[in-house]
Amino acid sequence: MPLKVLILGVSGFIGNRLTEVILERTNWEVYGMDMTTDKISGILSDKRFHFFEGDITINKEWIEYHIRKCDVVLPLVAIATPALYVQDPLRVFNLDFMANLEIIRAIVRHKKRVVFPSTSEVYGMCEDPEFNEETSNLVLGPIHKQRWIYSCSKQLLDRVIYAHGVQDNLNYTLIRPFNWIGPKLDNIMDPKEGSSRVLTQFISNVIHGHDIKLVDGGEQHRCFTYIDDGIDALLKIIENKDDCASRRIFNLGNPENDVSIKTLAHLVLDLIKTYPRYRERADKVSIVSVDSEKYYGKSYQDAQARVPSIKMAETYLDWTPKIDLKTALKKTLDYHLKHPDESLTEEDN
Ligand code: UGA
Repeated sequence: MPLKVLILGVSGFIGNRLTEVILERTNWEVYGMDMTTDKISGILSDKRFHFFEGDITINKEWIEYHIRKCDVVLPLVAIATPALYVQDPLRVFNLDFMANLEIIRAIVRHKKRVVFPSTSEVYGMCEDPEFNEETSNLVLGPIHKQRWIYSCSKQLLDRVIYAHGVQDNLNYTLIRPFNWIGPKLDNIMDPKEGSSRVLTQFISNVIHGHDIKLVDGGEQHRCFTYIDDGIDALLKIIENKDDCASRRIFNLGNPENDVSIKTLAHLVLDLIKTYPRYRERADKVSIVSVDSEKYYGKSYQDAQARVPSIKMAETYLDWTPKIDLKTALKKTLDYHLKHPDESLTEEDN
């Protein structure tokens, strides 16, 4: 019998690409829910893709029924944009923790397998040179630094899931994506500062002719990971050959792609200049520094460095990321800038 996979948030950045790849490479059936279909229009007619337009906080019966029906569940619905952690922390808590807790409990009741997206953010301001899933401390700032509500919500769910593993034999895998990037991450047409993750924000700034802003000088580092590398790991985790992923936590990141945000800004701007249509616009854009308090507000606090140890994924999944940063950026830019009519509004043209 082909595996039945339930993906909540199937039209999200990870969900849509994961579904495309599952349909391409396996014989599995995918049951998916989301509130929109914009990222999945190309696969909606696939016979092995069963889509339901709904909201995880409302359509609870559909979810319960499909948890019962499927073999493995990926609850991918969450707010994952830092500006929102500080603007609307309770919305983050309600969706990322409360709504997902109900889903985890249903999975436990029906004795199903769960692959849950934890986050690189759980390590917070940990100072280890490489973050280890089993030994690194999870370091968050004071309560008034509301940015950490996302990290804390995810961490608490990690702990709840782990405890169900110990007490109820829940078959879980926790994944920690490290700054995954690629097509369809965020909407580059939204020029609002803080509306996206950093790469999408920078692309959006340039195509709208706005300066690129480096928060607090941009000396902070991230390891950017191309989505398709992450999806390769996810496929192995879902397949779970010989239980290789059961009751384990995996950092899924590319330690080789470790750059400062300032370097990223220069790379992105230089690459955009190689697209003739955007060259002139990019030439006018400057890279400037902005105070984090001004950019995000008082309750923001940042992680200065974030490098994953990927020994667990190498050992148990036989996985290593392959796509270097420049290729990852180029693939993302090609997606956005090679279809200029989709990328620019009338007004921008
Ligand atoms: C991200 C988000 O919390 C989640 O998407 C996710 O769980 C996790 O980390 C991850 O993807 O691993 P962060 O890396 O801080 O957090 O998110 P970005 O918005 O992409 O920012 C990266 C860095 O760029 C931050 O230091 C931020 O201050 C900086 N930045 C952002 C700028 O310098 N300029 C901007 O215009 C935007």
